[in-house]
Amino acid sequence: MSEENKTSNKPTSKPSAFTARRQFIQIGIAALGAAWLGVLVQSKIFPAQGASQEAKPVEFPLSELPVGGTKSLLYGGQPALVLRTPESIRAYSLICTHLGCTVQWQADKQEFYCPCHDGLFDQFGEVLAGPPPVPLEQLPVRVEGDMVIVGEVV
Ligand code: FES
Repeated sequence: MSEENKTSNKPTSKPSAFTARRQFIQIGIAALGAAWLGVLVQSKIFPAQGASQEAKPVEFPLSELPVGGTKSLLYGGQPALVLRTPESIRAYSLICTHLGCTVQWQADKQEFYCPCHDGLFDQFGEVLAGPPPVPLEQLPVRVEGDMVIVGEVV
């Protein structure tokens, strides 16, 4: 028996290069599968923060929005709020920029509050406290005649 055969018949405790490479590939495939599953689960738990439906402009009479008042509506399938002050009319998405919970307008404090993680935004949507990384999304709004129009005409 040649020297080569003697060594190849010996049981070895170390995996061969082929076995190690195969394990590496299997682990890599498993990691990719786990990452894909994580993204899938996250997308189901926390749907995209942007409008999931095509956002068509929403109109309502200006008379429904007195100075100092608000008007709730759905824009692109997402809750939104229009605020009217003596100086301006502004509209904001009510989807929190942290993890997508719905924020609440607190008229007495003139702030948006997110109950999920105590996120707080001022009346201009700017972050005051909590984990939200960026301001609330401001939506385009304009007045034409006696109608308020929220959203862009595409
Ligand atoms: Fe709003 Fe976390 S989802 S603060």
